[in-house]
Amino acid sequence: MISKADIEHLFSRQLRLIGDDTLRAKVVDVWVDACAQGGWKSVDELRKMPFTLLTDAHGVDFVAHTIAVTEGAVGLAKAQFEGSKKLPYAIDMDRLVAGGLLHDVGKLVEIEPDGSGGYRKSRSGMCARHPISGAILVAKAGLSDEIVNVVACHAKEGDGRPQVVETVLIHQADFATFDPLVMLNSGRLIQ
Ligand SMILES: [Fe+2]
Repeated sequence: MISKADIEHLFSRQLRLIGDDTLRAKVVDVWVDACAQGGWKSVDELRKMPFTLLTDAHGVDFVAHTIAVTEGAVGLAKAQFEGSKKLPYAIDMDRLVAGGLLHDVGKLVEIEPDGSGGYRKSRSGMCARHPISGAILVAKAGLSDEIVNVVACHAKEGDGRPQVVETVLIHQADFATFDPLVMLNSGRLIQ
């Protein structure tokens, strides 16, 4: 079973960026619950799980992706703070980091091992993609409506819909890690 300590160790650097103790603890709780619900039993399994089934992830695992998106979104926020004397909107860094760590947590119930060394969409995943299952997990844990927006609307489900600014940043960081792989796999990435 994947414990709180396992999750705290995996995301230690990012969790330290969350100032609110209760929020930090809830982020860890959601991860532990999602791992249990999805049947993931060890950190080793998480580190082998591809972050997407939509394209060949070339070994980029789910944990590495979650860290890359979270850190990428933090970088986008910091660049705006530092580059503008008066940013016309607020960016909530606690919400941004929590949202980054949780944006794909629904994949823990959307993806499952296929029994032959590969991965497939679970029955739950066929019924609801990870933005929906993730939003349910996050809402059940009592996280804010704004963090539900980050999780529910970070992918195509959120296109054209109202988003908190943290959702916009997570969306951009997410696609900055996904699009190059799609392009690489279809021969459209110039190298
Ligand atoms: Fe993602």
